[in-house]
Amino acid sequence: MTRRTVILTTNPGIEDIVVWEAEAKLSAEAIEVRSGHGRVLVSVDEKKIYLVEQLRSIHRAKLLLARNGICGSQDCLRKVYEVVAASGVEKYVTPYTSFAVRAERVGEHDFSSLDVARVAGDAVIDAVRRAYGERPPVDLDYPAVVVSVDVIHDEIYVSIELGGEMSWHRRGYRIYDHPAALKPTLAYAMILMSDVVDGDTLMDPMCGGGTVAIEAAMLLEHSRIICMDRSRRHIAGARLNAKAALVENRIRFIVGDATRLSSYVEDVDVVVSNPPYGIRMGSPREVRRVYREFLREAVNVVKKSIVLITTEHKTVRRVLEEHGWRITHARKVAHGNLYPYIVVAKPG
Ligand SMILES: C[S@@+](CC[C@H](N)C(=O)[O-])C[C@H]1O[C@@H](n2cnc3c(N)ncnc32)[C@H](O)[C@@H]1O
Repeated sequence: MTRRTVILTTNPGIEDIVVWEAEAKLSAEAIEVRSGHGRVLVSVDEKKIYLVEQLRSIHRAKLLLARNGICGSQDCLRKVYEVVAASGVEKYVTPYTSFAVRAERVGEHDFSSLDVARVAGDAVIDAVRRAYGERPPVDLDYPAVVVSVDVIHDEIYVSIELGGEMSWHRRGYRIYDHPAALKPTLAYAMILMSDVVDGDTLMDPMCGGGTVAIEAAMLLEHSRIICMDRSRRHIAGARLNAKAALVENRIRFIVGDATRLSSYVEDVDVVVSNPPYGIRMGSPREVRRVYREFLREAVNVVKKSIVLITTEHKTVRRVLEEHGWRITHARKVAHGNLYPYIVVAKPG
């Protein structure tokens, strides 16, 4: 069995979920977890690499060709050239395969990621020319193969993008684009954190375009899933998205007010939700009122757990503790340019 190293990238804050999923679905072994940086390196049996497309918690997957940790401040670009040229990239890029280099740079350097891409591109061309006597075509718009070169502080990583230009968190079902949509990878992570089991009832009472409900319906074959929002337009959009994801029949859609939750549902096992953030709603007082009233209802309706992603985590903690619930887990994640918390609460 030949094992290869795969770099999995994700939303910063859910690296442990990626490791769990890769272990479960690919029998992968974690090599390095850069918590808070959205990067996980795993070792995978070569024959199972194609299964990366089943991972719901990743943004990208890249097959590592070379890694070199001696890119000092001086002459780093020359080192980039050498590492790329010696990486074996010509096994993936040939004179008949168009390619593009995508470069990422993290840390303080006196060169830009464009410089890295340019130098790495030259190295790929030279490696292919050496191997085949001809140069490969460059296609920056629609490349057949994407060579990824990341300079992270003083380390250089050369890899091949396994999904080409595709980012795997962009699920094909997003027909209706909610203005504050949650990343599906975060929705998936939150569902796992709720400890829901297949057959439980899961509700998102402020479901917007339906991301949580759709991810839940795809994960839980036998569960009842409820997607509620006070906006009729968002519920229509969520329905469209669910239809595109082929799970419309698995979800009950309700136009309703989460601050009166008990008038729509009697009991649900778990609530997983992405309520509005105060910073986006404009009025902190109004947002706290919505949270207070929603949670006061939720504690009477929910049996197992409430999982929220929110910038209002202090209000959430205070209100839930007032009602005798415990916060069993809280973690900061990146969500766009905000850093909300995922909070997990349980009764008692
Ligand atoms: C951050 S968005 C949810 C986005 C959703 N997770 C997605 O991926 O599309 C918050 C949603 O809460 C809804 N909302 C706000 N107050 C509500 C209330 N009292 N009852 C029900 N929904 C509410 C808004 O209409 C909005 O769609």
